[in-house]
Amino acid sequence: MSSEFQSFPRAQRHGPIEQILTDIFVVYGSMRMAPLMRIGRNMVICRDGDRLTLLNPIRLSAAGEAELEKLGRVTDVVRLGFFHGLDDAYCVHRFGARFWCQPGSNHYAEPSPDAVLNEEAALPIRAARVITFRATRAPEAVVCIERDGGLLVTCDSLQHYAGPSRATLVARLVMRWFGYTQATQVSPLWLKYMRSAGGDLQADFDRILECEFERLISAHGALLDRQAHAAAAQAVGRALGG
Ligand SMILES: [Fe+2]
Repeated sequence: MSSEFQSFPRAQRHGPIEQILTDIFVVYGSMRMAPLMRIGRNMVICRDGDRLTLLNPIRLSAAGEAELEKLGRVTDVVRLGFFHGLDDAYCVHRFGARFWCQPGSNHYAEPSPDAVLNEEAALPIRAARVITFRATRAPEAVVCIERDGGLLVTCDSLQHYAGPSRATLVARLVMRWFGYTQATQVSPLWLKYMRSAGGDLQADFDRILECEFERLISAHGALLDRQAHAAAAQAVGRALGG
């Protein structure tokens, strides 16, 4: 790897690229938060011809990048969640990609956006629909890929946890203490930060639930590969008391 990339955060532990639908792939990665505290972190890769779009980008190892480049060329990098962005600048520079984010999604200041992520955004992902939260204190979005039964890709808003995890035991205990006790849930920490007085988060989630999706994958946790819409609706009901 050339020295020009040494200033970016290094690649962290991750698994192989796994296909979950036609032209949709996921990498289950991780992020070190503190000693003994490593949480899971996922990236979704969408292929359109030979173009690749990264949702919730994570930096891969050199071997991982070699596998990625076998799938196509990364042309677009998309930030969905306000709190995510550690590897966005690296991915944009490494691949010469166009960077999408919502106005004000600047918890990570770099890179500067090349394109605005809004509900009219024409992402190079077949049958994709962007839904943005309107009532949150900071920008957040989801992408619903409405084909093959539908796949909802979120960042932090809705999450699903199941099975083996890349999170350490300490991280899992801390998350449980913060209220991450359900398989599918609105992230408690995200909700605590994002909920604003008077904002109608229910309307935001209702617009997401207007989409059809059998599956859900977020930037953390596991793929929910069946009946995700019902699980998401229940999670929203629990979180918002609707
Ligand atoms: Fe997150």
